[in-house]
Amino acid sequence: MIEKLQSHYGFTRMPFGRDLAPGMLHRHAAHNEAVARITWCIAERAIGVITGEVGAGKTVSVRTVLAGLDATRHTVIYLPNPMISVRGLHEAIVTTFGQAPSLITSRVIAQASAALAAERDERGRTTVLVLDEAHLLRYEQLETIRMLTNQSMDADSPLSCLLVGQPTLRRTMKLAVLAALEQRVALRYTMPPMTAAETASYISHHVKLAGRADTLFTDDAAALIHASSRGYPRAVNNLAIAALVAAYAAGQSLIDEKTARAAVAEVTDD
Ligand SMILES: Nc1ncnc2c1ncn2[C@@H]1O[C@H](COP(=O)(O)OP(=O)(O)O)[C@@H](O)[C@H]1O
Ligand SMILES: [Mg+2]
Repeated sequence: MIEKLQSHYGFTRMPFGRDLAPGMLHRHAAHNEAVARITWCIAERAIGVITGEVGAGKTVSVRTVLAGLDATRHTVIYLPNPMISVRGLHEAIVTTFGQAPSLITSRVIAQASAALAAERDERGRTTVLVLDEAHLLRYEQLETIRMLTNQSMDADSPLSCLLVGQPTLRRTMKLAVLAALEQRVALRYTMPPMTAAETASYISHHVKLAGRADTLFTDDAAALIHASSRGYPRAVNNLAIAALVAAYAAGQSLIDEKTARAAVAEVTDD
C-alpha cells in the first residue's frame, strides 16, 4: 500500500511519518517556544513541566533539544515509560553512570544521589532527567523526584528535570502534598495547537519533504483537516494520510475538500 501511494503521488518518501530528524521538523510557534524554554530550563539546571494534549508535539520538542545538547557537558536520562518503580528510577540513574545498582534499596538511593553529585562536582556535567508521560506518575515517584532535585543543602541542583505529560499533570503537581516540588518548578509551559495557517504550512512542509513542491492539498482541504484535528500535529498526520489514501482510491491526484471530508469521516468515525 505504501509503495502504491508513493508511486501514485510521486513521493520520494512517505509524508506525515513519525521519524523526522530534528533538522526536518516544522517550526511552528508552539514547537519553537517549547524548544527555547526547555533549552533555558536545562541551562538553569531547573525543573520544568511541559504539558499539552495528546499529539501536541511535546516529545518531538524535547527530543529536539536533547539532540542538540553538547554531549561533553550533559548526560541525558530519558524515561519514556512512567510505569517505573521508585527503585527503578534510582536504578536507571545508577546504571546510566556505569555503576551496578545495589540490591539494597536504601543503598541504591544513596548511590544515585552520589552519582548525580559526582557528575556535577567532579566532571562538571549536567544530568538531564526526562520523564515522559509524566501525568501517569504516582505520588511516590514525584516525591522521589523532589528528593533527587533537592539533595544538597546548597541551592544548586545536580540535575535538570523535565516532566512531560498531558494537561492533568498540572493539576497533580498542584496537590498540597507536592507544594514543595511545585514551588521549585522554574518552567511551566503548555503547548498550544497550531493555528489554521500553521496547519496549512505544516501540511505543505511534510509534502515538500516527500519530494513534491507543488500543491497537493487544496486550501479547503487543509482548512477542514485543521478544524477536525484542532491543529494538533499527530491528528493532522492521521487525517492527511487517510486523505491521501481516499484520493488514491478515487483515482484523484489532488486532495480536495470532498476527499478530506471522507477522510475525516473515516478517521473520526462520525
Ligand atoms: N514540529 C514538528 N514537525 C513535524 N512533525 C511534528 C512536529 N511536532 C510533532 N510532529 C508530529 O506529531 C507527532 C506527535 O508528536 P509528539 O511529540 O509525539 O506528541 P506528544 O508527545 O505531545 O503526544 C510526531 O510523531 C510527529 O509526527
Ligand atoms: Mg509524547
